Order: sequence, then C-alpha cells, then structure tokens
Amino acid sequence: MISAIGAVSANGMIGLDGWLPWDIPEELAYFEQTVDGAALVIGRLTYESMDVVPVDSFIVSRRDDLQLRPGCRRVDSVEAGLRAALATGKSVFVIGGASVYAAAWRYCERFYLTRIERSFDGDSRFPEEIDLSGWLIESETVRQLPEYKTRGDVNCRFLVYRQRNPLPLPVLDCNSAPG
Ligand SMILES: NC(=O)c1ccc[n+]([C@@H]2O[C@H](COP(=O)([O-])OP(=O)(O)OC[C@H]3O[C@@H](n4cnc5c(N)ncnc54)[C@H](OP(=O)(O)O)[C@@H]3O)[C@@H](O)[C@H]2O)c1
Repeated sequence: MISAIGAVSANGMIGLDGWLPWDIPEELAYFEQTVDGAALVIGRLTYESMDVVPVDSFIVSRRDDLQLRPGCRRVDSVEAGLRAALATGKSVFVIGGASVYAAAWRYCERFYLTRIERSFDGDSRFPEEIDLSGWLIESETVRQLPEYKTRGDVNCRFLVYRQRNPLPLPVLDCNSAPG
C-alpha cells in the first residue's frame, strides 16, 4: 500500500530554510512512529534535510551523480521510486517535499496529514492541486501541543484521509531505460 505523510500550516506552508517552519517535537515523533519500518520515497531536498534516513529510502532526483548514504537509492521519477519502494515488500510512504507530493498523491491510498492550526512563515508550500476533499476521513484527532518557536501551544489536527480508488501506477514501458 502507498501512503503519503506530511504536515501543513493554516497558511499552506510545509517548509522553511530547508527544515520545518515550526518546532513541534510530538508531531515529529508521530511522523517517525508512523513511517517506522516502511520504504520511503523522498525528494532530494527533503532527503538532504534529514539527519537519519532509514534503509530502503528512494531519493527522487534528476542528478545522476548524486552521492547517497547507505541503504538509499536514487530514482529519476516519483513513479520509479514508488515501484522500487513497493518491490521491497514493505509498506510505502511518500514523505515529500512539495513536487513529490504533487506527483504521488493520486497513487496513494492514504494521506496522513497533520493540519497545524496556526500560520507560519515558510518558503515551501503544500501543492494547491492536491485535492483531498473527495477522500474519506478515516481518523481525526486534535491535540494541543507545545510549539517551541513561538513558545506557545498549537492545535494539531491529525487526519488520515483515504482515497477509495487510487490511480494505478503506469505500466512500465520495457523499451525505456529503468529509473
Ligand atoms: N511539512 C512537511 O510535512 C514536510 C515534508 C517534506 C519536506 N518538508 C520541507 O520541505 C522542504 C523541502 O521540500 P521541497 O518541496 O523544497 O523539495 P523536495 O521535493 O524535497 O526536493 C526537490 C527536489 O527533488 C527532486 N524532484 C522532485 N520532484 C521530482 C520529479 N518529479 N522528478 C525528478 N526529480 C524530482 C529534484 O531534485 P534534483 O534537483 O536533485 O533533480 C528537486 O530539486 C524542506 O524545508 C523540508 O523540511 C516538509
């Protein structure tokens, strides 16, 4: 199964200066717990922002000279990343960033999205074309959590959306080069 996971502020931001716009350790812990043991599909900038990258991570990049940490493999498209991640036999999570979510969301059965109910400055935005309005809300939990940049509490709405009929991955053209 393919899922995506991310967190977005009230004004649509997901990133700032190569990291998250906020500092909410419990939200980060939720992310780590949810993707534990999964194969990950990760945009190159998000990969570079991570201190620890688990094995079976597939890094989407067009740079064929990209040097990666052990257990990581470059793929040149999101679809190639999803295929390779599925081939591990693990559950698959797309963890962003923006253009990776935008290319992957139609293939996902679930989207774990935390809505941070406050505006934050940011330079990376959740893609507007991702429309979850027709998806079922499978679960929804609101927690008031400490946020250490603004030194206040913030409401975090942990949503799990489910898409009934995700788009199948395109059939691989055997005449084209592998990704
Ligand atoms: N709030 C959240 O849940 C969340 C989640 C993830 C990331 N973030 C934040 O978002 C920021 C990074 O995200 P971002 O959107 O700027 O960058 P990103 O998606 O992580 O990385 C962009 C790079 O990925 C590669 N790429 C993306 N789509 C591709 C495609 N379809 N085909 C081939 N290559 C593709 C390209 O790499 P090359 O240039 O190497 O070709 C592109 O420059 C950071 O601030 C990070 O902390 C937040």
